[in-house]
Amino acid sequence: MARKSIIGSGGRFIPAVLAAFFLLGAAAPPAAAAGPPDGVLSLMPVPAGVAAGEGRFRVDEGLTIGGPAPASGRAFRAAARFMSRLAGRTGLFLRQDFLAAQDPAGDGGVRYAFERAGALAPNEDESYSLTVEPARVALAAKTDIGVLRGLETLLQLLSADEAGYYFPCVSVVDRPRFTWRGLLIDAGRHFQPVDVVKRNLDAMAAVKMNVLHWHLTEDQGFRVESKVFPKLHQLGSDGMFYTQAQVREVVEYAADRRIRVMPEFDLPGHSTSWFVAYPQYSSAPGSYAIERRFGVFGPAFNPADERVYPFLDAFFKEMAGLFPDPYVHIGGDEVEGRQWDANPEIQAFKRKNGIADNAALQAYFNKRLLKLLAKHGKKAVGWDEIFQPDLPKDTVIHSWRGPQSLVEAARKGYRGILSNGYYIDLCQSAAFHYLNDPVPADSPLDESQKALVLGGEATMWAELVTPETIDSRIWPRTAAIAERLWSPASVRDVDDVYRRLGRISIELEELGLLHIKNRGLLLRRLAGGPAIEPLELLAQAVEPLEGYKRHGQAAYTSLSPLTRFVDACAPESLEAWDFSRAVDRYLASRDPVLGAALGRALTAWKDNHPRVLALLAASPALREIEPLSLGLARSCEAGLEALSVLSKGEGRPAAWVEAKTEVLTDAGRTAAHAELAVVEPVAKLVRACAGAVK
Ligand code: ACM
Repeated sequence: MARKSIIGSGGRFIPAVLAAFFLLGAAAPPAAAAGPPDGVLSLMPVPAGVAAGEGRFRVDEGLTIGGPAPASGRAFRAAARFMSRLAGRTGLFLRQDFLAAQDPAGDGGVRYAFERAGALAPNEDESYSLTVEPARVALAAKTDIGVLRGLETLLQLLSADEAGYYFPCVSVVDRPRFTWRGLLIDAGRHFQPVDVVKRNLDAMAAVKMNVLHWHLTEDQGFRVESKVFPKLHQLGSDGMFYTQAQVREVVEYAADRRIRVMPEFDLPGHSTSWFVAYPQYSSAPGSYAIERRFGVFGPAFNPADERVYPFLDAFFKEMAGLFPDPYVHIGGDEVEGRQWDANPEIQAFKRKNGIADNAALQAYFNKRLLKLLAKHGKKAVGWDEIFQPDLPKDTVIHSWRGPQSLVEAARKGYRGILSNGYYIDLCQSAAFHYLNDPVPADSPLDESQKALVLGGEATMWAELVTPETIDSRIWPRTAAIAERLWSPASVRDVDDVYRRLGRISIELEELGLLHIKNRGLLLRRLAGGPAIEPLELLAQAVEPLEGYKRHGQAAYTSLSPLTRFVDACAPESLEAWDFSRAVDRYLASRDPVLGAALGRALTAWKDNHPRVLALLAASPALREIEPLSLGLARSCEAGLEALSVLSKGEGRPAAWVEAKTEVLTDAGRTAAHAELAVVEPVAKLVRACAGAVK
C-alpha cells in the first residue's frame, strides 16, 4: 500500500534513525488493513458523504478527460490543470491535448458535467458527486464550481499499487458545511508579492477554500496602486505595492479557481500609511511616516472632517471598479482613540451631534462609509468592533475577539464569520484550530440564527512573516481549518487530521508551496553551507513561541530580519506531535516495540547536540540555539532513563521524579525566541516512573 504518512512529509529531512521511529509513531489507523483504500482515507477535507466501492480505475497514459462543449471556461481550464498535475505526480506521459480530448470516444475516462457557471458570491452551489468505477469516472455538479472541487477530490484519491497508479472505486457526494472558507493574507505589515499570493490561491483551491481576504492597508504599508490618489501607494509603501494590473491578474487567477477576492482597507484606525501622503485626513496634525513598529497606534481618520468623505468616496469608487467581489472589508478594529480625544474639533463635533463616546463616533463614521460603499455597489464586512444594532442588515460581522460577537450578531439578524481561534500567526496547534467550530455543538443559536454564520477565515497576520516564511506559517495547519469549514461538524478526529496533514503537505508542494523547501534554504544560509542535517533534526523538536510571546523577546519591526533559526522552525512540529502521541500510546500499552522506537528517537536527539555545536562554531547567527540543543540533549537523557525504568516495570521515588522534572523545567526555557516541543511528552515518561522501586 502506498500510504504516505508523516514519514512522507519529512522523508527528505528526517535522518534514518528518526524516520524509523516515525514509521512506527505514525502507524496507520486500524481501519487501514481491512477498510477503504489509501486515497479514500486521505481525503482532506473529508467529504460530506463517501462510500468505498470495489475495484480500481487504472490511471495510465491512455487517460482521457471530457466535459461539455464548448471546450473553454473555468471547468475546462481546471481539467487541464488536473491532467498536468496528474502527469507531474505520476510521471506518466498523459495526453494533454485538451481541446481534442474534450469529447473522447466511448464512455471511458473521466467525464465531468455541470448545469451552469457558478457565481462569485457567497451561498453559491459548490456541491458535486464523484463516482469512480473500474472503467469510468463520473463527476457531476450543478455548477462548474462543483467540478473544480470534485477534481481536487479525485487528485487526492490517487493511489498506487504494484501495477501502477489508480483511483480507488468510490462514490462521493459532497458539499460544504459553510459557504465562507477564507484565508486572510496581510500584505500590509510585510508585503507579499504576487507569486506568493498566487501559489497560496492554488493551495487554497486544493483544500476547497474559497475566499482570499486581502489585507491591503496597514500602519506599515499601503499596498495597492491608486490612480486617483497615486501618492497613497507612492509614499505609503516603500515601493512595495500591487499595481492595478497585478490586482486584476490575482482576481482573475482566483476566479479561475473560484476563489473570491475580498480586499480590506482598514479604517478608521490602522491607517498611518494613508497619512504619509494625506495627513489632512487624520485626526492630528502631521507629518506622518510609515510605521515600522507593530502594535496599535494612534493615527485615525477624522470622522468630523467633511473633507474625509469625498476623499473616501472617490477612493472606494476606484477600488469598487478594481475588485468585483460584492464585499469590501472595512477593518474597523483597534481604534485607539487618542487622536480623537486630543482633538478639540472632534470633541466639539461629538457634543454637537450627541455622540457619547468613541465607539459611537466610529459608528457614525461607519454609517457614512457604508453609504458610500452601497453607492458603489458594495456590501461591508468589518471586524467585530463595528457591530452596532443599526448597521445595514447586509453587513457581515467578522469575529476576532471572541465567538460571542458572532452569537450576538446572529441574534440580531446579522451574518458573521469567525476568525477568533483561527489566528495562524500565533503558532498554535492544528488541533486547536481544528476543534474551533464557527457553530459549536453547544451553540445557543436557533437553526435560523445558525444559518447566519457563514463560515470563517484563517488569518495570516504578517508581523513575523516574509515571502520566504509565509507558506510555512500557513501550511499545512490551514488545511485543518479548511476541513473544519467544509466537512460535517461530526468530523472531529484529531489524530486522523495529523495523519492526513503530512500527506496534504506534500501535495501542496506540488503546487509550488515553499513551506517545506524553505526550511532548508533558511538553515543553509544560517550554517553557511549545505551540511544542515543536525539543524533539521533539532528543528523537529523546536517550535516558535506561541501567541504574542515572541514579540516580547525583541523589538521587532517591519525591518527586522526574519531569517533566524526560529523562522526555520514550523509553527507546529508534526514530528514532535508524532513523538508526543507515541509517548501516550506507549504509556497506555507499554508496548516494547514502541518503547524501543521512542528510545531511538531520544537517542538521536541526544546525540545530535555535539553535531549542532560543531556548526555553531562557524555561525555566529546560530549561537543563540545552543541552549535549545543542550536542553534537548538533557531532556532526552532524562527520557531515556525513564524509558529504561518503565521497560523493566520498575518505579522511582518522588525525589528522583522531582530531580528529573527540574532538569526538564530548565531544558524547557525559552531560547532563541523558541521553545522545545518535546519536553512535555518526556515529562510524561518521567512522571510515569513515580512509584515504589520494584
Ligand atoms: C485584529 O486582529 N486586530 C483584527
